[in-house]
Amino acid sequence: MRRTRILAAVGAGALLLGLAACGDSKDSSDSGKDSTGGKQVEVFTWWTSGSEALGLEEIEKVLKDKYPDIKFVNGGVTGGGGSAKDLLQTRLAAGEPPDTFQVHAGKEAQDYIDAKQVEDVSDLYDRFGLTDVFPQDLIDMLTQDGKIYTIPSNVHRANVLWAAIPVLEAAGLPTDSAQFASIDEFIAALDKIKAATPDVTPLSVGGTWCQVHLLETVLIAELGAPAYNGLFDGSTDWAGAEVKGALEKFGKLMSYTNADRDSMDWEPASQMLLDGKAAFNIMGDWVPALLDSKNLVAGKDYLYAASPGTEGIYDFLADSFSRTVGAPDKAGAEAWLDVISSKEGQIGFNKVKGSIPARTDIDLAAEGFSEYQQSAAESFKSDTIVGSIQHGAAATIKQGADANNAVSKFTTGAMDAAGLATLQQELAAAFAG
Ligand code: GAL
Repeated sequence: MRRTRILAAVGAGALLLGLAACGDSKDSSDSGKDSTGGKQVEVFTWWTSGSEALGLEEIEKVLKDKYPDIKFVNGGVTGGGGSAKDLLQTRLAAGEPPDTFQVHAGKEAQDYIDAKQVEDVSDLYDRFGLTDVFPQDLIDMLTQDGKIYTIPSNVHRANVLWAAIPVLEAAGLPTDSAQFASIDEFIAALDKIKAATPDVTPLSVGGTWCQVHLLETVLIAELGAPAYNGLFDGSTDWAGAEVKGALEKFGKLMSYTNADRDSMDWEPASQMLLDGKAAFNIMGDWVPALLDSKNLVAGKDYLYAASPGTEGIYDFLADSFSRTVGAPDKAGAEAWLDVISSKEGQIGFNKVKGSIPARTDIDLAAEGFSEYQQSAAESFKSDTIVGSIQHGAAATIKQGADANNAVSKFTTGAMDAAGLATLQQELAAAFAG
């Protein structure tokens, strides 16, 4: 069942980057540098601050240990996935690729495969003994014509609600659970926050990509897993009444959010919970690392639960890496791939970042992973899996970019009925065909 769901979310390949495939990317065979003499690896990610940067540092440590001759070059760019992916495209098109880059498993990775921007790394699965260590579903998402193109470093869950207990207390809301059975129930709680603590933002959110992230959790809640998956294989109509209803709920939720949302990435928006400035935040499970770094304790200072109306559903995403076609330093890229896929690398990185290892042969309790991470690993095994739009599992890069433009137009506009109608039309167009 789970396998079918993930694969349904991935669906047929994306065509956008096919253009680039015939264009500027150089083949690794004609790259400027001797592939065997690599002394560095430039790694492109958007992990540039907080727990994400610390996670990257953990991998860097393992790299230094295992490959002391290879210098780590941090090609990270700030601003989250959207702007990072744009910049990456510019570099790839200009023939200036990093040796390896962060890419989401699913349709996003498929884009790069179709565009011939990532190499077949099946040989590395054999060399590093990886063939049996990742969930087969995940490997299937990264495979085309029997070749595996990227190696996963972690698995994240996108549909998580985070709540600040002191703020709930002040508003007289229950402090033992943040589980809401529906968006409507959640809206009732947001109303209570608004009435009881007018200075507090009921629901904090960051800039456009965070708003798309919020939107996908509302779509999952309102449509349910099967109809949500149907959005990506044409069996659910983006222009239909169900989606219209979900978008209305999204519009309503946006009305409880901070006015300065467009000036911030996810971290300052989540930070509002720590500062007592917001009650709730819906964001992926890179948040606990931030909360834990401030010594906040789950159950005492903050609560987490599946985002409203999505209990039993796991909105999945995974980061992965490859050897870039035309990588200046193939040996460096391979060292990186060895490290990020190794037990040591996945333990060091994921413990700090908040995700769970993509490897299935790591005992999370024995390795000291947090309670949240252990519970996420259990949910990943038992919940219904759907793919994230914002984080590339279910949407191609172009679909993601179009969804971001549509949502931005709506949330920077009047957020009225006309805006909702345009949003729905633009989303339908983004996912058509
Ligand atoms: C996601 C990425 C996560 C995390 C998050 C916030 O797209 O997969 O690993 O970095 O963005 O930056």
